[in-house]
Amino acid sequence: MSAADFASVLDDSKVVVCCGSGGVGKTTTAAALAIAAARRGRRVVLITIDPAKRLADALGVGALSNDPARVPLDGDAQLWAMMLDARATFDAVIRAQSRNEAQAERILNNPFYVNIASRLSGSQEYMAAEKLYELANDDRFDLVVVDTPPTREALDFLEAPQRLMNFLDHRVYRWLMTPARGGLKVLNIAAQPILRTIGRVIGADVLADAIDFFQAFEGIEPGFVRRAGAVQSLLKSEDCRYVVVSSARRDTVDEAVYFIGQLTQRDVAVAGLVLNRLQPAFGTGSANSALTAARAARKAGDPTTALLQENLAHVRRVAEAEHAVIEPLLARVQGAAVARIHQRAADVHDLDTIDALGREIVG
Ligand SMILES: Nc1ncnc2c1ncn2[C@@H]1O[C@H](COP(=O)(O)OP(=O)(O)O)[C@@H](O)[C@H]1O
Ligand SMILES: [Mg+2]
Repeated sequence: MSAADFASVLDDSKVVVCCGSGGVGKTTTAAALAIAAARRGRRVVLITIDPAKRLADALGVGALSNDPARVPLDGDAQLWAMMLDARATFDAVIRAQSRNEAQAERILNNPFYVNIASRLSGSQEYMAAEKLYELANDDRFDLVVVDTPPTREALDFLEAPQRLMNFLDHRVYRWLMTPARGGLKVLNIAAQPILRTIGRVIGADVLADAIDFFQAFEGIEPGFVRRAGAVQSLLKSEDCRYVVVSSARRDTVDEAVYFIGQLTQRDVAVAGLVLNRLQPAFGTGSANSALTAARAARKAGDPTTALLQENLAHVRRVAEAEHAVIEPLLARVQGAAVARIHQRAADVHDLDTIDALGREIVG
């Protein structure tokens, strides 16, 4: 298989997801890929997770928002950016799926809903998946570039739609959902032995809210299941490409290998690998050849050149060591596009530098 390049990853996909451990440059890479794709004429929306303050300001995503804001770029590049507001996304989904305003309000104002929408683990991941599906189907955009949170569980959103579908299919859920028949009230349902037990554990009020929530949900769940199914297929389709970001440190390489494993387990291929924060190579020679030159210069009575060659030997030695560290990673992503980005002298938070990184990645 011939190695792919980032240009085709950006040109031929609808969604690009960046993953990797914290601090390797995921957020920076996601922004760089988004700008690069916009420069290639695609209308791009970037979902960013935890940008540094200065980057957030440069992108114009100072606050959580559910509406992408246009990023000012020169030329005709069209880029939007947003920071996901999971709660607002959840609310919008409820509104879209509800039969009418009254049903939407009953759900949105239910304390159990408020609790799951903002706190329940899994709902954040599901909303991330939901939002990216929505943006991928938004006529304003050709491509969604997604940054992921700096946790090992970052790829859980891949499973979130399936978990939601399983839950809505679950027997207990179906039973709770059964509308109160023959004037049976929530309180009577709550008097059932199993629910009494649950109520003792989680509190009777919470239980009553939960039952009310599930009953308010009536009629919505087929729409939810269809939607979750569509989100799931997008995430696993050819339209969605995954880019792993790593630096050349042993620990981040181990994490990258972990993420590649997570993707492989889910039958998803790695489309690209970005190796970030690398030591520049400085010429084509080896560390040893620089040391030989240093010795020769010293013999010839040229200590300045000798010192320069010794420094060169040192930085080349670092680059060579990095090469050994990333070798096993490269072996695992054969066929994927690979980009190498050097460590800059200073942090990169401004659009010009990120633009330049994007050009470097795409080549
Ligand atoms: N090639 C690079 N050279 C210099 N600084 C970098 C480079 N890539 C990223 N950084 C800086 O490293 C820090 C972490 O980058 P970030 O993209 O936020 O990582 P992550 O999202 O993986 O946690 C940021 O301050 C960023 O500006
Ligand atoms: Mg980040």
